[in-house]
Amino acid sequence: MEEVTVRGVCPEDLERVTAVEAVCFPAAEAATRESFQERIAAFPEYFFVAEVQRGLIGFINGCVTNSPVIFDEMFHSTSYHIPNGENLTVFGLTVIPEYRKQGVAAQLMQHFIQTAKNTGKRKVILTCKERLVPYYESFGYAYDGISASTHGGAQWFDMTLVLKP
Ligand SMILES: CC(C)(COP(=O)(O)OP(=O)(O)OC[C@H]1O[C@@H](n2cnc3c(N)ncnc32)[C@H](O)[C@@H]1OP(=O)(O)O)[C@@H](O)C(=O)NCCC(=O)NCCS
Repeated sequence: MEEVTVRGVCPEDLERVTAVEAVCFPAAEAATRESFQERIAAFPEYFFVAEVQRGLIGFINGCVTNSPVIFDEMFHSTSYHIPNGENLTVFGLTVIPEYRKQGVAAQLMQHFIQTAKNTGKRKVILTCKERLVPYYESFGYAYDGISASTHGGAQWFDMTLVLKP
């Protein structure tokens, strides 16, 4: 397998991040270029990309909040980012199809969790589709039931990784 590097996002990644998102999510769920531009400016320290020699193949990002769960407004405005908040959210974890099932998303997630630990967060929280519940459980996330989120018209499930009680 090719060597995969995980590094912090930079403004030059904007076009490629937007393209990867569009390949991986239905249009109603995909974040827009404008949204990524805002996120890269607002919380670059919680936005990581996975790269091989030919370029960017996936990424993970999220804001910081005091809320125990993700709510839909967060996806649309970085004004909900509270830099010194307690919990780190996962807005999206994405790997292009050609590089899936090789542990790239796991590498991104482990890096994200380690960042949450290094910055003293209490929890990492995410919402996911039902089919991914067991995948996130493999990182230690607990299933918290159906989310209030209706992002993109889909049903979502809340999951929480507790780092500090
Ligand atoms: C979900 C997603 C990020 C997973 O990316 P990925 O890089 O394939 O993830 P991983 O390789 O870490 O794990 C995927 C599976 O491959 C398995 N796997 C990991 N390394 C492997 C290897 N070397 N050989 C065989 N299988 C492997 C994992 O155990 C996991 O198995 P599971 O599906 O039974 O749980 C990717 O499919 C994606 O971008 N999907 C579309 C967007 C999406 O739904 N994102 C999540 C929304 S929150």
